Parts: sequence; C-alpha cells; structure tokens
Amino acid sequence: MGTKLYIKTFGCQMNEYDSDKTIDILKEKKDVSITDNPEEADIVLLNTCSIREKAEDKVYSDLGRLRKLKEKNPNLKIGVGGCVATQEGENIMKRAPYVDLIYGPQTLHKVPDLLEIKKESGIKAIDITFPIEEKFDSLPAPSSSGPSSFVSIMEGCSKYCSFCVVPYTRGEEVSRKPIQIFDEVARLAEQGVSEITFIGQNVNSYIMPFNGRLLRLSDLIEIASHIDGIKRIRYTTSHPLDMTDDLIEVYKSVPQLVSQLHLPVQSGSNDILKSMKRNYTVELFIDIVERIKNIRPELRVSSDFIVGFPGETNIDFKKTMELVNYIKFDSSFSFIYSPRPGTPATKLDDPTDMTEKKERLKILQSTLNRFHQNHSKSMIGNIERCLVTGISKKSPDQLQARTECNRVVNFDFNKMGLIGNIVDIKVENALANSLLGSLHVI
Ligand code: SAH
Ligand code: F3S
Repeated sequence: MGTKLYIKTFGCQMNEYDSDKTIDILKEKKDVSITDNPEEADIVLLNTCSIREKAEDKVYSDLGRLRKLKEKNPNLKIGVGGCVATQEGENIMKRAPYVDLIYGPQTLHKVPDLLEIKKESGIKAIDITFPIEEKFDSLPAPSSSGPSSFVSIMEGCSKYCSFCVVPYTRGEEVSRKPIQIFDEVARLAEQGVSEITFIGQNVNSYIMPFNGRLLRLSDLIEIASHIDGIKRIRYTTSHPLDMTDDLIEVYKSVPQLVSQLHLPVQSGSNDILKSMKRNYTVELFIDIVERIKNIRPELRVSSDFIVGFPGETNIDFKKTMELVNYIKFDSSFSFIYSPRPGTPATKLDDPTDMTEKKERLKILQSTLNRFHQNHSKSMIGNIERCLVTGISKKSPDQLQARTECNRVVNFDFNKMGLIGNIVDIKVENALANSLLGSLHVI
C-alpha cells in the first residue's frame, strides 16, 4: 500500500489551487494517494489562511487534535503550509514540536524534499521563502477533474492595502511566463476542460514581455479564446485600479468571456478607501462598471466589502449602502474588519464598538442577500447559456450546470454525455442557493 495523504485547505481559491498542485507534486514524486480520513493518513498537511482573525487559533486547535493521532502513529508526518506558516514560521514548531515540516504558499514544490528531512538530523524542515518563479517552473503537468479548471497566472500582491496581510504572506506580485500559461490551458482543453478561470491575488495586474511586446490579462483572455475547446473564460480576483481600457475592450471582442465580474470595492466612502490605501474613488469604480455595462448590459457584478474599518462613521457606512443600492451587487462577500499583525491599519484609531460593527454587517448582508434573491427570481423564464458541470447533488436523474453569473442550475437529464458542454436551459424556479431548470431544445 502506498503513502496516504490527508490535506485540509482553508481560505481562498489560490489556496485550493495550491492544495491541488501539492497533491499533483506528491503523486508524481512520492506516489501518494488521497484519503479524506486523517486517522488513516501517513502525511497530514494543513494549507492555512491568515486573511482574518482567529485563523492562527484554528490552526493550533487542529494541531492539538493531530498530536493525538501522532501519539497513536509516530510515523505520521504533519506539515503546515499556507499563509499562517509564513506568518508564524518557526513559532509553530516551538508551540507544536510534533510538527515535521513548515512550507509557505511559494514553496509547496519543496514539500517532497522537506518530508525527507529527519528530525534527528538537527536540520529544521522549514522553507517559507518566496521563490515564486521556481514554484511555477516546478509545477507538474496539469490534470483536470472536471470541465472547469483554475489557471494561476500570477502570485502575490504589491498593492499593500493598509488592512491586508497578503503582500507579507505571499510576497510581491510575480507574473507567470505566458508560454507556461498557454501550455497549461491547451493541456487542460485536451483533457476536456471547457471553462478556465485565470486566478491571482491581483489577476489584472498581470504583465509580462512576450515576442517583443508586453502581454496583459486582456491578451491572455484573447489568446486563450482561440484555444480549441475553451468555451468560457473567467478571471478573479481583480483590483479596480488595474481595470485598464484594454481589459474593458476585451468584453467586446471575446464572447467566451463571461458577463460576470468580481470586483472588490471594500467601501463606498472615499475617506475610508483612502485610509485603506485602495488608491481609487467610488466614482472610478462606478465608471468601470458602467463602461463594461455599456458593452454588456447583462453584466452582473459581485464584490468584497469590509465594514467597521477603523474610523468608519455611520455616514461612511451609509455611503457603502448607497453604492450597494446603486450597483445592485450580485452574490458578494462581506466581513467585519479584522486587525492583522504587522499591517498599518492596526495603528489607526478604532472607536466604534463591536456591537455597532455587527449591526452594520447585518444591514449590509441582508441587502446583499436581497439583491442575490432578486437576481435569481428575475432569471425565471429566461433561457440561460449554461456549462454542464456534472451530476446534480440533489438527484442522480438530474445534471448540474452553471449560468454565466455562476449560479447552480439543476435540470432533469440522465445522460452523462452533456457534461462539459454549453447548453441552453430555461430557468423554471429560483431556490435559496440554486435554480431549477429544463433543457431548452429549439
Ligand atoms: N486581491 C483582492 C483581495 C484578496 S483578500 C482585492 O483586490 O481586494 C479577500 C477579501 O478579504 C478582501 O477583498 C477583503 O474584503 C477581505 N479582507 C482582507 N483583509 C481583511 C481584514 N484585515 N479584515 C477583514 N476583511 C479582510
Ligand atoms: Fe490584499 Fe489589497 Fe492586495 S486586499 S491582496 S493588499 S489588493
């Protein structure tokens, strides 16, 4: 029997991508198989997130449980990766000496080597450096497990928003070589992938020289759209400041690019945006959305919001609500500000109490939820272009598909042959978290 790996992933899509790549590397170099039961694992990896508070606590409490497993099975190897690993470093081994290896988001390709280091050798199995290009160069050939796949095009972030740990935990922005990206998209398409999502912490700040000119995200979208089999293209997460003219124009020329945009705004108050160091205004944000809507009137926009940022007054919060009501955001994320160690915002005065912050979050979330439900209801009766992604979780006689705005639609059909295709589905009903539809045949 080969080595069994259990991996637990916290946080964002980049972390999910990193966990998949860690698995691919370990399969290639160490012949591991995956288990979803930590009790039977030979290697347990925690791919951690530190974007908001309590993340470290969660990791230490998980480690406490793993300690018991190690007492039963002394050969068990325990590793901590991801952003908490970068932030805490050696502290993890001090607090939890039974941890065998520590690696960061940019050194996951070194996990096979770190696993070889024996504790008795006196060498610490820790690597939390940022050799991003080396990571990209060491990734094994991509493998797909369905019709939809992420493709990482850049890593890290150099924006340094005053509240955010990402630039410190993932390092500064590094773009991936275009040839590696096109090769990955083509290989995925050969394996039957029809939807790709370009991902990066700041995916639209991508910039790389290629054939004597500078390629940007808009060029990657345009070129990928000519790769046989690619029927849908998404990208996430983008920053308003990098929504350049070429990226807006590409909505005209590339029909495979979906009419859905995730564009984090964080706040509707220019004073707060300034203090967050976001470097744009609410007016610029609205202008971007309206320019894309002129090209694609059906565009749906989702966003990220932080409430209760230090110094946020009731008036600032009202401005956020005005923006939300104006744009009518679709399925969005919202959080209470969480002070992160080492970030400049922790030094700001924060007089608003937590009860008030929670109240603001409740108001924001109920409005965002209402828009989400309204959008779903407004789709009833529409014929939507949907990518068939697999068998429905609700019934084996139904297939599951996704609309352009990424809603799940279940529809009656019991032949697998449709998976990976784009089909027209008539939306019959809108439930809280999914839609119900029927295959539309002309
Ligand atoms: N690159 C993205 C953000 C990635 S982090 C961007 O351009 O905005 C994902 C989301 O987590 C952020 O958009 C923000 O809304 C939230 N977030 C980040 N740091 C936070 C903090 N300290 N407290 C609360 N929410 C935070
Ligand atoms: Fe964080 Fe701002 Fe970058 S939110 S990931 S520092 S754009």
